[in-house]
Amino acid sequence: MSPRHRTPLESRVYVPAPGEGSDVELMPAGDVTDGVVRVGGTIRRPHQPQSLAVAGYLDWLDDAGFEGSPRFLGRDAEGRDVLTFLPGQCAGAVPEAWVQPEDLLVSVAQLVRRLHTASAGFVPRDHPFPPKPVRPDTPPQDSAALVCHLDVTPQNVVVRDGVAAGLVDFDLAGPSTAFKDSYNAAMHWIPLRDPADLWPGWERTDPFRRLRVFADAYGWSEEERRRLPASGVEAAALSRSRMRHNARTLGGGWARMWDDGVGGLIRRRGAWLEANAGQLVEALTDASHEKPTFRPRNRCTAQRWRPAR
Ligand SMILES: Nc1ncnc2c1ncn2[C@@H]1O[C@H](COP(=O)(O)OP(=O)(O)O)[C@@H](O)[C@H]1O
Ligand SMILES: [Mg+2]
Repeated sequence: MSPRHRTPLESRVYVPAPGEGSDVELMPAGDVTDGVVRVGGTIRRPHQPQSLAVAGYLDWLDDAGFEGSPRFLGRDAEGRDVLTFLPGQCAGAVPEAWVQPEDLLVSVAQLVRRLHTASAGFVPRDHPFPPKPVRPDTPPQDSAALVCHLDVTPQNVVVRDGVAAGLVDFDLAGPSTAFKDSYNAAMHWIPLRDPADLWPGWERTDPFRRLRVFADAYGWSEEERRRLPASGVEAAALSRSRMRHNARTLGGGWARMWDDGVGGLIRRRGAWLEANAGQLVEALTDASHEKPTFRPRNRCTAQRWRPAR
């Protein structure tokens, strides 16, 4: 749809298809939003302060030809946001074994890259993103040049035929940088965390190798690869402080996550990144390991890729 034919976001009303209301399914609970349901070919989510800013971004992505995001269809009679349902599979709270293949990781990196290409030039106008709640003593961030997703977790990626086909849950979207968004996606998908915090069944995955695979597939520059450990440590500190602040001020899912120990997990991640900084940069920059990306995963036997424990 060309932009000039769209109904303005604030007055966009969703008109249900005949009989649609009889086909309703509760979606797997994410961390934060209660009551996400599928109704026919649509997703209904509670309307939130950032909803119209997100909707403007989704319109932009649609116009830019990005195929991997839902469309905002309007609000239903109950005031909920209505989005297109993206068919496929999302990971559960503990990502299953099917989430591990390197080809999927490659496709996630490439999908995030395509998102960033499509996002270039988007400037929210009528509905700016509400400022994220941050502690007053949070250090100033570097300039935020690109609106992006900022929560590309396994639970928020729709996988079809083993390939990352779509992104859902744009609740945390907002101005940031391509490197921060892609680092955040890598952090979730590798995952970058203390080995003691790995999901059950993920103990044999190799974070150094997976990081290199992601980096090559996304296309991080040499400079980005070298600053990754320090940026990751900084991101962990900021994220921990934000989570604690959100838990105290917003409660709900944020408080649940904090009570479940996410603060300790993020602190251990920062310490692990710091302790393994040299090995991380080596994995990211060592020319002898170029293009490990498309080798079948179970043939990677090189001992040097093992995490230092
Ligand atoms: N547009 C969509 N298409 C397909 N599945 C979706 C869509 N939106 C949400 N889901 C599914 O519902 C789950 C929870 O919704 P989400 O928007 O991620 O809420 P939360 O903020 O709680 O994480 C997702 O992990 C995904 O499985
Ligand atoms: Mg989610």
